[in-house]
Amino acid sequence: MSEENTIETMQHEGRTFDPPKGVQQNAYVASMADYEALYARADQDPEGFWAERSRELLHWDKPFTKVLEADMTTPCIKWFGDGKLNVSANCLDRHLTDGRRNKAAIIWQGEPEDDVKVFTYQMLYTEVCRCANLLRKLGVGRGDRVALYLPMIPELAIAMLACTRIGATHSIVFAGFSAVSLQNRIDDCQAKVLLTADAVLRGGRAIPLKGNVDEALKTCPSVEQCVVVKRAGIDIRMVEGRDIWWHEAMAAEDISGECPYEKMDAEDPLFILYTSGSTGKPKGVVHTTGGYLTYAAHTTQWVFDVKDDDVYMCTADVGWITGHSYIVYGPLALGATSIMFEGVPSFPKPDRFWKIVEKFKVNIFYTAPTAIRALMREGTDWPKKHDLTSLRILGSVGEPINPEAWMWYYENVGGKRTPIVDTWWQTETGGIMISALPGATPLKPGSATRPLPGVAAAIVRADGSDAGPDEGGHLVVKKPWPGMLRGVFGDPERYRKTYFDRFPGMYEAGDGARVDKDGYFWIMGRLDDVINVSGHRLGTAEIESALVAHPSVAEAAVVGMPHHIKGQGIYAYVTLKSGIEESDGLRKELVGHVRKEIGPIATPEVIQFTDGLPKTRSGKIMRRILRKIAEGQIEDFGDTSTLADPTVITSLVEGKKDLL
Ligand code: WT7
Repeated sequence: MSEENTIETMQHEGRTFDPPKGVQQNAYVASMADYEALYARADQDPEGFWAERSRELLHWDKPFTKVLEADMTTPCIKWFGDGKLNVSANCLDRHLTDGRRNKAAIIWQGEPEDDVKVFTYQMLYTEVCRCANLLRKLGVGRGDRVALYLPMIPELAIAMLACTRIGATHSIVFAGFSAVSLQNRIDDCQAKVLLTADAVLRGGRAIPLKGNVDEALKTCPSVEQCVVVKRAGIDIRMVEGRDIWWHEAMAAEDISGECPYEKMDAEDPLFILYTSGSTGKPKGVVHTTGGYLTYAAHTTQWVFDVKDDDVYMCTADVGWITGHSYIVYGPLALGATSIMFEGVPSFPKPDRFWKIVEKFKVNIFYTAPTAIRALMREGTDWPKKHDLTSLRILGSVGEPINPEAWMWYYENVGGKRTPIVDTWWQTETGGIMISALPGATPLKPGSATRPLPGVAAAIVRADGSDAGPDEGGHLVVKKPWPGMLRGVFGDPERYRKTYFDRFPGMYEAGDGARVDKDGYFWIMGRLDDVINVSGHRLGTAEIESALVAHPSVAEAAVVGMPHHIKGQGIYAYVTLKSGIEESDGLRKELVGHVRKEIGPIATPEVIQFTDGLPKTRSGKIMRRILRKIAEGQIEDFGDTSTLADPTVITSLVEGKKDLL
């Protein structure tokens, strides 16, 4: 039976998996009846529900009296508007006196197996205070932006928390992004200081990082100082007057570690994180202080059912929203123990995750379908080699998990004892929106199950009316929630247009989905020109503009193609300038060019040279056709009557055959 067939059969089989008794017994939400009651309560009285959660989970320096002021049309959203709090005080200071002072806050597993560091809450507090004092000395204050371009090392978490302590807004740029991407992001948010490292350790190699910084900073006048962490000890250039070493600067800071924190307004910006859209440059999603932290803590507690003696591990990179919310802010706000892992799943062997689970007796493990599919290919011997019985809850995020990968994860990692929470959310939502609750929700492999209490998720038709059971439509959220984005940095109009324009009064996610007769959500993927490569969002427009920036390229069109591990891969159609010869050498050069412009995550899978693209008479590229060809469906192209030149299709199909 082919892989597709297996997936198909399972989707229609409709198997469900009830929560195991052991998980159910002590869970925060311990039955479907509890879930339904909480959902109804939050629906009837959202302000009461969220105010209660926030007061229970966070320390407010000045308690809020207003809960929500929202207008989803303008849009203008304020949660806990007149309250004051500080994120680092919530993640650190209060745990110094609540019995957790000596508890591991972060267990850092470096890429080399023996490279392990444990930071207790006391130790992390001290380091954060020192770093915060250092940033203040460098002239960073409330409201300033700080860019972080760092590998998965403790300094990244320390720097984030240090920013929050002094009220600076951090903007993390994933260390896999190129110099050009870094430059765009720094320039957009006008960061004053940049923190980086000499190199990234990955797959047994040191990949230089500082060179990208030097290149990017050539055209980033806003950056006054650059602090460099020595991670690999490779040779780098330090620019006099601009670059300083982290270890030298930190050594000058008092080890008694005191740094009074700023009492921030609930709606003060906490961080900016860039994410791809269907058009133009990546947008800087803005999250604010009180609502985001409430939401991160709340979802971490309920979805992962984190208990005080649990060891919790999320394998994401802190450069993405998953790492922000579920490695750093959510777990630390709860006073939990969070593992931060620097390496990759397959190095030195495909049992790296399982080794870490065994070594630290991990109880809760959260990863992405792409990682599971990659490890699945390596066979069941790798997980079998390790004692994984400490695991109680598994999680998945980033894209729909195909039932085959779900079953493999469930059987071989969870030993059929652990629920899998498939969590749907986005950079913009700040935290998990649709997910099973491990002690309550019966699971259906491939479905993210039900919206969390307080999340008014729904499926609507193109005209905004509610879709019926099993009818595919647009995924929207009809009421505000505390973790929602508050803006696109520097571009209020883009904020409004992207999320609140098409369906008045609702948040538009950009995903297609359907809800089955049991109220379970099945996410079908993006409806816009965004593709999801290994759980990371990439705009086709961004890749196209990278391609046309190459001197040999006249025109480019990019679509997603199915990929057995990455979920989707990048398929690029390229028209060369006249006089330029097609060749494999040029193909390689173009692949390298896109990697350099955006980063290795944007590596095109296929580049097909073509003399023309399918366009309508008004010049619009018909992507529907390009998608079909990329998927290998070359029979039925539907209505092609609006094409300016229908013969283009034949030559595209011929060109595709030549590629195979
Ligand atoms: C897009 C958001 C949320 C952190 C990681 C990605 C897709 C995410 C799921 C899931 C189906 C999912 C959606 C969404 N997505 N999780 N569990 N099931 N699809 O964050 O880069 O902002 O991407 O990822 O298409 O819109 P992001």
